Order: sequence, then C-alpha cells, then structure tokens
Amino acid sequence: MIQSLTTDLLSAVNHYLSERLGLYFNEMRYSDLERGLNNAAQELGYANAEHCINEILEGALNKQDLQTVVRNLTVGETYFFRDQAVFIAMEEKIIPELLKRKRKSGNKALRIWSAGCSTGEEPYSIAISLSRTIPDIDSWQIHLIATDINTRSLEKAHNASYGSWSFRTMPSEFFHQYFQPSAEGQHKLNDNLRKYVKLSYLNLAEDEYPTSKSGTSEMDIVFCRNVLIYFTQQRGKQIADKLADCLAPGGSFITSASDSSRFITQPPKGLQRVGSTIFVKSNAEK
Ligand SMILES: C[S@@+](CC[C@H](N)C(=O)[O-])C[C@H]1O[C@@H](n2cnc3c(N)ncnc32)[C@H](O)[C@@H]1O
Repeated sequence: MIQSLTTDLLSAVNHYLSERLGLYFNEMRYSDLERGLNNAAQELGYANAEHCINEILEGALNKQDLQTVVRNLTVGETYFFRDQAVFIAMEEKIIPELLKRKRKSGNKALRIWSAGCSTGEEPYSIAISLSRTIPDIDSWQIHLIATDINTRSLEKAHNASYGSWSFRTMPSEFFHQYFQPSAEGQHKLNDNLRKYVKLSYLNLAEDEYPTSKSGTSEMDIVFCRNVLIYFTQQRGKQIADKLADCLAPGGSFITSASDSSRFITQPPKGLQRVGSTIFVKSNAEK
C-alpha cells in the first residue's frame, strides 16, 4: 500500500538526495518522489516508506540499496525518434556536414554521446540515423556511447527488445527494416546496429567528464534530452556547461524543449544556438 508522506519528510529526503546524488524533485514532482520512495521501500523489504526514508537520511543504506532507490526515482519515459525534428536535422544537416568536415581532414571517426539514455531508444535511434546517412559506414570508426544512472534501464537497453509503446512515433518502414520479432509482442533491434552503441553507468551529477577514460572528450555530438528536469536549475546549468566542454570544435549539443526552455535560457559556455534545441561549438578550423 502506498504510504502518504508529509511534505517535511519529502523535503528532507529531497534535500539529501540532491546533495548526495544530484537528484532533485521540484514540488510539482513530489507525487513522483513519493511514489518512487514507496516502490523502493517495498523492493527493499521495509515495512513502510517512512522507515526507508529514515534509513536513507541516516546514511544507513549501502551502495546497492541506494541504487535501488535511484532506480525507482528515475523511471525515464522515452521512445524511438522522440522529437522527429531533431532526427530530421541530424540526417539532413548535422551528420552530412560532420562527414564533410571529417572527410576533408582525413579523420573517419565519429564520436557521439547519448547522456541519460534511459532504456536505449535514443542511442539506437541515433544508430539508425547514422546507418541511413552514411553509405560507407563500415569504413568509419563509430564511437557511440550511451550512459545513464539507472542500472535497470541500462539492462533493458542491453537487450534492445521493445514493445509497441516504444515505437509509437517511429516511421513504420523502419520497423520492418531494422527490427526482428523477439519475445511475445516485442521487437529486437538488429545486431548490426546494436553493435554501435556502448552502454555504461554514468551519474551526470557526480562523475567526471569530459575524460578520455569515460570516452566523453572531443565529442562531435552530445545528446542530453529530457534529463535536466531531474536537477535544480543551478545544477542543470552546470551540467549543460560540463557537457558543452565535452564537445570538439564544431560539435553539436542537442537538448529537448523542456531542457532548453527551463535550464538553458543562455547557451552553454562557448556554444551558439542554431535551433530551438540545438547548440553548436564554433569551429576554429572553418
Ligand atoms: C526521461 S528519460 C530521457 C531519455 C532520453 N534522453 C529521451 O529524451 O527520450 C531521463 C533519463 O535521465 C536519467 N537520469 C536522471 N538523473 C541522472 C543522472 N544524475 N545521471 C545520469 N542520468 C540520469 C534517468 O535515469 C532517465 O533514464
């Protein structure tokens, strides 16, 4: 049964999670916080959510149990080709211009990051777009990384098997071309596209980036869409600036309408706005 929690208790745990993990719920999302904490308490075997919260606040949860809490608080909505305008821009402008620049410099390598990838629909949509726009893709070195804080979402992404809800806005011809029926009612992305995406855990609020170890430096394109809503405005802005630092000259930073209207009122440092949700780092080599 869902235990209803006092605003004081929710505010205390919100403060703790924000300080420790960078996870933040504004008051409009307190019902999500309450639901997530109730689910986490149940999964961890607590008699009620209040007991679980007290243990969180006392720092009594081990790393694994804290990860269970995080997982229940970051259930991310996503689907293939979310915001089609972005993928049209990718296929008609961003990728072709990038290829032209790279070919000119003799560097046939592409570096792309989907930060906050949830269950994988975003990075796999990127892989499909790359395969549609790069006829000689096999002769390119593709570094396409996808990271998230939610380990259960990453597991689902590894499986790359999805139900119809994930395909709700995807053009139907892609469905037959790039997926095979798998378990009942599910379709799995073909291995020749799945192989491009390297999934890993990365907490945008805590972990270091850009670093060469995490493969997050000198990126040509960084996607971070519908993720900044999990942070305070100040932290969201810091994260956008750090992601901008990950870009190579000429690189693109792609956000979503909800991120750019609330968290990126000014372009992140060193970037210029070229569309409502797209920013570009100037290219000194131009
Ligand atoms: C709403 S989903 C967005 C998925 C995808 N980018 C899209 O736009 O369809 C937000 C994702 O951000 C992840 N997230 C939240 N806080 C994070 C953090 N501190 N570090 C990394 N990922 C985080 C969540 O786990 C969730 O999978």
